[in-house]
Amino acid sequence: MILLTGLVGVLLVLTAEAKVGNSEGTKCTETKECLLYDLVCETAEYEVRKYGAAKWVSTMEESWSMEYATMTAFRRLFGYISGENAEGKKIEMTAPVLVTIPEEPIWSTRNFTMSFLLPSEFQQNPPTPDNTKVYIHEMPEMKMYVRSYGGWMTGISDFYYARRLKNTFKINGATYNNTFHFGVGYDSPMKWYNRHNEVWFKVEGEPVCSSSSSEEMSD
Ligand SMILES: *[C@@H]1O[C@H](CO)[C@@H](O)[C@H](O)[C@H]1NC(C)=O
Ligand SMILES: *[C@@H]1O[C@H](CO)[C@@H](O)[C@H](O)[C@H]1NC(C)=O
Repeated sequence: MILLTGLVGVLLVLTAEAKVGNSEGTKCTETKECLLYDLVCETAEYEVRKYGAAKWVSTMEESWSMEYATMTAFRRLFGYISGENAEGKKIEMTAPVLVTIPEEPIWSTRNFTMSFLLPSEFQQNPPTPDNTKVYIHEMPEMKMYVRSYGGWMTGISDFYYARRLKNTFKINGATYNNTFHFGVGYDSPMKWYNRHNEVWFKVEGEPVCSSSSSEEMSD
């Protein structure tokens, strides 16, 4: 019994440390490191994933257009990883890139927050950003409802898949944080084929994975 408890302890430590790691076998095809997760359950419409706590570098931009906000935010964060930090450190790009999107009407002025995942090397001691609009923070462990899609992530495609997921939740009673969702990108704009994007909603309460049949879905 004591041995077993010890073993469980070791496994927990390993799981906790494996949250930012090697991209091999993941959707992160263009970066060395990726945010790793455990698959909790899945339906035809979404997966439920569990992510460990990790540190991110973020910046917020207000706009009516997700494209405009993310372009500005990307430049700022790219500056940080290119050396605009207290130690002048160059930091490797990771995936995915998150955009926090408020659940407010599309085309209304909203605050979009873009976040880059810090590579494992900088998870413990991230360099301080030079730009006061750029900040480091830790996201706690969280469970996500995840819908994947191809092509490019735009305000319109993100809106479409987010709405589709919310319709699914209405049918199967899944509870989620309805104040925001994440638009999640894995590829650089230079990649043209087999692009991968996701929409994430934060799970509230127990995750629901009862499948809703496709006949019930309105497209
Ligand atoms: C965006 O955030 C700023 C600073 O927190 C705030 O003053 C502003 O009202 C916010 N804009 C929207 C549209 O929520
Ligand atoms: C949803 O997320 C927002 C922003 O992180 C947070 O302030 C709020 O408390 C969350 N709502 C619930 C029901 O947990």
